[in-house]
Amino acid sequence: MKANLKQEFKNRYNKEATHTFFSPGRVNLIGEHIDYNGGLVMPCAITLGTYMLIAPNSDKVFRFKSVNFEEQLEIPLQSSYTKSGEEWFNYPLGVINYLIEGGKELGGLDMLYYGDIPIGSGLSSSASIEVVTAFAFNQLFNCGLTKLELVLISKRVENEFIGVSSGIMDQFAVAFGETDKALVLNCDTLDYEAVPTNLGDHLLAIINTNKLRKLAESKYNERVQECQTALKQLQQELDIANLCDLDSATFELHKHLVTDPTVLKRATHVVYENQRVKQAAKALSENKLEEFGQLMYASHDSLKNLYEVSGKELDCIAEYGKTDPNVIGARMTGAGFGGCGIAIVKKDSLETFITKFTLYYESKIGYAPSVYASLIGHGVSELKD
Ligand code: GLA
Repeated sequence: MKANLKQEFKNRYNKEATHTFFSPGRVNLIGEHIDYNGGLVMPCAITLGTYMLIAPNSDKVFRFKSVNFEEQLEIPLQSSYTKSGEEWFNYPLGVINYLIEGGKELGGLDMLYYGDIPIGSGLSSSASIEVVTAFAFNQLFNCGLTKLELVLISKRVENEFIGVSSGIMDQFAVAFGETDKALVLNCDTLDYEAVPTNLGDHLLAIINTNKLRKLAESKYNERVQECQTALKQLQQELDIANLCDLDSATFELHKHLVTDPTVLKRATHVVYENQRVKQAAKALSENKLEEFGQLMYASHDSLKNLYEVSGKELDCIAEYGKTDPNVIGARMTGAGFGGCGIAIVKKDSLETFITKFTLYYESKIGYAPSVYASLIGHGVSELKD
């Protein structure tokens, strides 16, 4: 892979790449639509991700090329940039914009990107490209930023440059992920613990519904708004900064303050999902996989019925899982509205699981999903020879 990419870089730029960086994608085990409500999430980095090969140039120009997309951009070093169109290079351009805004002295760079995360699958290809870019520039131009600062710049790209009100989970997971561990991250304080994902004789399967996420960004922003409405109404009586500051008992006593029934459903999901993450982290540390699996199903049901971000394709994953004794738990992962789900499957039954699930899914949806066994990889890094 790396050797091919180096050759590709040479073909495109007629010179050798000087550095290669890699940033993973992520899955979230549990704690969905929680990060922007200041609660707990449990993501892990995966081994699919974004490769970035670079070589400095003396022309004071940024050249963005991709193996995945034909669109490319050549743009001189200037004092600021704005998003133009919907092309992929807006993500790295946003990173550069905020580095320059922060007073960092950058030089010209020739870049080649390659990602093996299926696009639009909800495995955080955008966080991956943002973080790999921030990491590479930080290193090459000695910007002196910490990994957390790189995460915050990348999140800002998503929020302000691209315009999605997403939380910090994705960028944090792809930067700080650790092999064979999940991060139990408090999205309010940004404290986290890396906990071993010891699944014993089970493995984590990623299931791509192969349904492209449509309208995902506007629906996502709508959910963020609904949570803010609920928070404001609860703040009339409660001294809280985030919805996740509430335990379920306090929420039950005050939920009459939330006047709109739809908004109340959203808030109910958030409060109970946050509680489920605490239970799930405990269950995982005590090797209580069955309990972990039940919490995954409960999370899915809540995302389906209360938060309303699932869909028939993602629902198939949880529905099927409940019928197969070799599946311990399953749910959608990420923002929803299509994209991917995850399932905890008995290792020696993976092939049967894939065959049976594929038949089930095809009979309900009309086309095939893609299923892979997932490895839990590490966060962003430079790849040395
Ligand atoms: C997307 C966002 C994250 C998070 C998830 C839902 O992946 O980028 O910040 O909100 O959806 O949990």
